[in-house]
Amino acid sequence: MAFHLRKDARNSPSVPGLSDDIARCIAEHGRELPTPFYLYSQRLVREATASYRGLFPAQARLFYSLKANPQAALVQQFSRLGVGAEIASEGEWQTCMAAGVSAPHVVVGGVSKSEEFLSSVCRSGPAAVVLDSIIEWRRFQKVLSVGRSAPVLLRINPGISLGGLNMADGSQFGLDMEQALAIARECSTNPQAQFVGLHFYFGSQRLMPSVIVEALEAIERAVAEFRKEGPSFSVVDLGLGIGVPYLSTEKALDFHHSREELQRHWQKQVWQEIDLWAEAGRALVAAAGYFIARVTERKRLNGKTFLFLDGGLGVHNPGIGRGNIFRRNPEFHFITDSANGEFETVTLVGNLCTPADTLGWEVTAPRLEEGDLVIVPNSGAYCATTGALGFNSQRLFSEGLLTETGLLTLCRPQYAQALTETRPQFSYRP
Ligand SMILES: Cc1ncc(COP(=O)(O)O)c(C=O)c1O
Repeated sequence: MAFHLRKDARNSPSVPGLSDDIARCIAEHGRELPTPFYLYSQRLVREATASYRGLFPAQARLFYSLKANPQAALVQQFSRLGVGAEIASEGEWQTCMAAGVSAPHVVVGGVSKSEEFLSSVCRSGPAAVVLDSIIEWRRFQKVLSVGRSAPVLLRINPGISLGGLNMADGSQFGLDMEQALAIARECSTNPQAQFVGLHFYFGSQRLMPSVIVEALEAIERAVAEFRKEGPSFSVVDLGLGIGVPYLSTEKALDFHHSREELQRHWQKQVWQEIDLWAEAGRALVAAAGYFIARVTERKRLNGKTFLFLDGGLGVHNPGIGRGNIFRRNPEFHFITDSANGEFETVTLVGNLCTPADTLGWEVTAPRLEEGDLVIVPNSGAYCATTGALGFNSQRLFSEGLLTETGLLTLCRPQYAQALTETRPQFSYRP
């Protein structure tokens, strides 16, 4: 197998667009990497966390949304950086516990939570439980009646649509203002219930600073309205839905500009005496992840050159919720020895029996051979988890973390638990 990065170049490898530490790691380990592979950079996790933190007041609490990537090694990194967790299922809760994130640092979100789940998290003392519906509130009351409790946040859906990936107007998430006010009033008559604040998350993949500010202004209006009419509260937990550039044509959010805009907002009256909590997934983890697949075959057909990879849509589905992703390309980097300076136009495909499994259309690439590597940056969020994992029973991906000291350690597979879990057996008789 051939690599563009030769042994004698390991100390100063250079692949356009890849930082030196990532390029060096792939040069040294590429041959043995169990592809398809996700490589995470501890340095980039730290840098993304610092950039994200800069958007908020210094005392704000940050939470990492595991839905972006539940890899325990990443959850652990965030925990070490003082970032708690926002979870949406029992599985994500268990990942937190396994990663050593203690319950008081976990916000329990998600939809349609069962009484059983609510009861079990309340036993452990989470930072808060986010109630997403009236039914959840009824279930939560049953949990309170047996002596369990937890701080409660009410998720408000402001019913508006903004740019990016909309999760408010017309979506199933959260409560309207009337419902939230009704629950908060009922909470204040129940000595067991601890209503502490409001939760807002109604869109994602926002790459324009103006849309993020619009979202924040909608939150400010809702906070002010709730304050006028409802019981008092101290916490606002918000997700601003900061986007990441999945496509080569997209530009990352200008953090510097957004930071200035947002810092101005935090000075407003509405935010005084509020404990601000901020939750995010992709903004914290996308840039830290690189997807690496190996070329398994070159094929000429009907005038086109196809390059088959050992993982495509089955393990890598960039940009959940973005139907338009499938006919546009992410950025690619290539590792090959056949550096004769010639480029060709190829179609990059995965190993599933569907034409939808196309990773790149009309990609300009150096001549790639079997064993060469294709790398997709910005792959740390919603790429692995939203792959068509069951399709054709192809091999799942492996993962590794590159530490700041240059050590590559393989991570425990995300799905190990699901694979070994025993489920209740039942038989069906017609
Ligand atoms: C309630 C909630 N919080 C946080 C997130 C994380 O969003 P993002 O990864 O865009 O930051 C999501 C994503 O769907 C969500 O639904």
